[in-house]
Parts: sequence; C-alpha cells; structure tokens
Amino acid sequence: VSPDDMSGKHVLITLGPTREKWDAVRFWSNPSSGLMGACIAMAAWLRGAKVTVVSGPVNWWFPADVNVIKVDSARQMFEAATDVWPECTTGCLTAAVADFRPVPHGDSKFKKAGQDSLSVNFESNSDILKTLGATKRDDQELIGFAAETSDIEKAAAGKLKAKNLDMIIANLINMPGAGFESFTNSVYVLDKSGRAEEWPNLPKTEIAWRIWDLLLQN
Ligand code: C5P
Repeated sequence: VSPDDMSGKHVLITLGPTREKWDAVRFWSNPSSGLMGACIAMAAWLRGAKVTVVSGPVNWWFPADVNVIKVDSARQMFEAATDVWPECTTGCLTAAVADFRPVPHGDSKFKKAGQDSLSVNFESNSDILKTLGATKRDDQELIGFAAETSDIEKAAAGKLKAKNLDMIIANLINMPGAGFESFTNSVYVLDKSGRAEEWPNLPKTEIAWRIWDLLLQN
C-alpha cells in the first residue's frame, strides 16, 4: 500500500537531455535517458503528490493526472520550469541540461562545400536549478543532482550551497552500473543539515523512493 505521505505537495521534476539546435538537421545534446527523473516523478505520484514534469526529448509514460510539459531546448526548459515553480512546494531537477548552446547556423542545412574542418561558437545557457534556488521561498524545498567524476563530496557540498538546495544527489558517472543509460546508480546524498549517505549500486526506482523518504524526515 502506498503511504500517501506526499499528499499536499506539488512536485516539479525536470528530466531528460536538452537539444540545442544548430541548423535545420543538427543539434547538440547528451545521452540522458530521463529514467532517474521518471522514477522520482512516479514515486512522488504514488505517494500522493501532485506532479508536474518538464521533459526534454524522451518519451516516458505517466499517469493521466501527471502534468507533462514537453520541451526541446534548455531555454524552453528554463521558461517552463520558472513558470510553474511559484505554484510548487518541491522541485527535483534531474535534467541533463546543456550548459552551452551552439550559436545557430540558421534554419537552412549547413553545406560542407569542400571544408575539412568546422568551428562552432557556443554561448551559455542559464542554470535553471540555480535560478529556482535563488527564488526559493521558506515553504519550498529544492533538490538538485550532480554528475561528477572526481571529488564527489566536495563538489556536492559546494553545489548544495551555491544553488541554495535542501538536498543534492551526486552520482559517480564513471563507475560501472551508474549514470546515463543505466538502470542502476551509485550515489552520494547530502542534505542542508549536513547529513550524508552513500547508496551504492541501487535500482533508480529504489533511489527515487529513498530520496522522498529522506526529504520527508527533515
Ligand atoms: O552545476 P551542474 O551542472 O553540475 O548542476 C547539475 C544540476 O543542475 C542538475 O540538478 C541539473 O538538472 C541542474 N541544471 C539546471 N540547469 C542548467 C544546468 C544544470 O537546472 N543549465
């Protein structure tokens, strides 16, 4: 039996990659599947929360009363997330947002026309998590993720503070059975009271449930 211990909460989840368009047929992206975010959204829904998902270009099935806003680019994800954030009690941003977008070539297809190299300039995208953290009210709570390859504890503590988070989940993406396109993950969890836990090699479904358990204990 589901505990219904998240009823009264309105949870915003971002998930999946973003696509940064360059020309008519090409874009900059990453291999995020969105599975971690989908598990977190489903766990919150099963526990009675109202759920809004801002989804990059991946296709997950959600129950009919989950509000799914589909976006492509980081700028669209920023617009959608900042728009719904004031109505939410809780944010959990799992999306693998592109930090940079290529300066567009234009709407037509780029033609290589004898070139043997190509230089593309990039401009930075806004940090959605940091923006939500900066406008976070006392009645809101915010969870972020961090994909790290080294110095995981230091990086997690730094981001928790810099982005004004209540909890951060850092995953070691270079460990076997962790990170992008994996059903399992190995994570280090830190909350703002300084409580730290390590959850090695767990299914993402289980990690999702534990994240909400931990948040509800605070
Ligand atoms: O600083 P870093 O990119 O490692 O932070 C990762 C966290 O920030 C993730 O929760 C991710 O969803 C979020 N993020 C964001 N907007 C960005 C970049 C990252 O919301 N432009």
